[in-house]
Amino acid sequence: MIRPNKYYSELKDSYLFYNIAQKTKAYVEQHPGTKLLRMGIGDVSLPLCDAVIRALHEAVDDQASKSSFHGYMPECGASFLREKIAEHYEKRGVSLSADEVFVSSGASDELGDILDLFERSSSALVIEPAYPAYVDANVMAGRKIVHLSSSEENNFLPEPGEDIKADLLYICSPNNPTGAVFSREQLQAWVDFANENGSVILFDAAYEAFIEDETLPHSIFELDGAKTCAIEICSLSKTAGFTGTRLGYTVIPKALKRNGMNLNEMWIRNRTTKTNGVSYIIQKGGAAVFTEEGQRQIHENIQIYKRNAKILMKALDQIGIWYCGGKNAPYIWMRCPKGMKSWEFFDYLLHKIQVVGTPGEGFGAAGEGYFRFSTFGSPEDTKEAAERIVTLFSK
Ligand SMILES: Cc1ncc(COP(=O)(O)O)c(C=O)c1O
Repeated sequence: MIRPNKYYSELKDSYLFYNIAQKTKAYVEQHPGTKLLRMGIGDVSLPLCDAVIRALHEAVDDQASKSSFHGYMPECGASFLREKIAEHYEKRGVSLSADEVFVSSGASDELGDILDLFERSSSALVIEPAYPAYVDANVMAGRKIVHLSSSEENNFLPEPGEDIKADLLYICSPNNPTGAVFSREQLQAWVDFANENGSVILFDAAYEAFIEDETLPHSIFELDGAKTCAIEICSLSKTAGFTGTRLGYTVIPKALKRNGMNLNEMWIRNRTTKTNGVSYIIQKGGAAVFTEEGQRQIHENIQIYKRNAKILMKALDQIGIWYCGGKNAPYIWMRCPKGMKSWEFFDYLLHKIQVVGTPGEGFGAAGEGYFRFSTFGSPEDTKEAAERIVTLFSK
């Protein structure tokens, strides 16, 4: 008889968003007419920008006539998009060839699929609190997870240490959920560590577009030696509002080799076997993001989320609550007041002021006692939530 993958039974049930939905639903049922302010979601609220919409419409029209119709797309991505992305890196001082860029349907898909490149016996380091998919994708593959807790003491940005033994190193910067961003020096230390130990860094850059401090790296490839130890996984979801449209890209340098095997060549082999490429229409829409007009428009949208962040940060400053993030990331990570646990604080906010956030415990044990606010909501809701928070804690 066929035996299912036994490692699925080792997965912990993810109650986080289910519990949030259940508790919120129950509250609304008991208090009809309540205006709930949802500050927990990690999904964008603004539509795609004009440049992208125009490109999508044009691409749909292309599919209507024989001369411009596209069938199967190249498995690793259309050259028009791969080239645009490589040029985008060039502007940041990172030189890549277009065939080091792989177009994907989003970062989530890649974070799981990329594990095909590594033996099951390899171990994975996850810095916690963390985006839950890092742990789950590795548990499904039967891989050993090495947990490294970050904390307020190291500003949620831990350093590599000699005691760390792991083959794959997950680094998410700007971080979900903490909003913390590694400095050049801090990230260089991880790059050096990976090169010295023969590890590979999986660098999740899903939130790089939110960095406003010019000294902070957007890409791991801005650092010396990263091309021999890192894979960068990027997404247009939060950068350009593609959460429902689905598009991302992954950079695997040709210089990345382990045990005599070239990971760029292996990924080409993988993609040409396991995918038939991303839709022509969506890739055309994605290419518009990397035009001058597209960049200007997506940054106008990002500014709206950043104004939300400022409103929330000001409120927390006013009532003297410790937090990090918000400045270079769309998340604000705050310490729960009065020593409350994160679910306790969730209930407190829901019942007292009808504001919904995300309990830190959902991102691993290191998140207990903390709470995440997302800045992707509407400016009106964010302003009202901030006012309710200030009123509640000023009493
Ligand atoms: C850190 C991080 N990586 C990856 C993703 C997934 O992005 P995508 O929508 O491209 O699958 C998310 C989504 O919230 C995220 O927070």
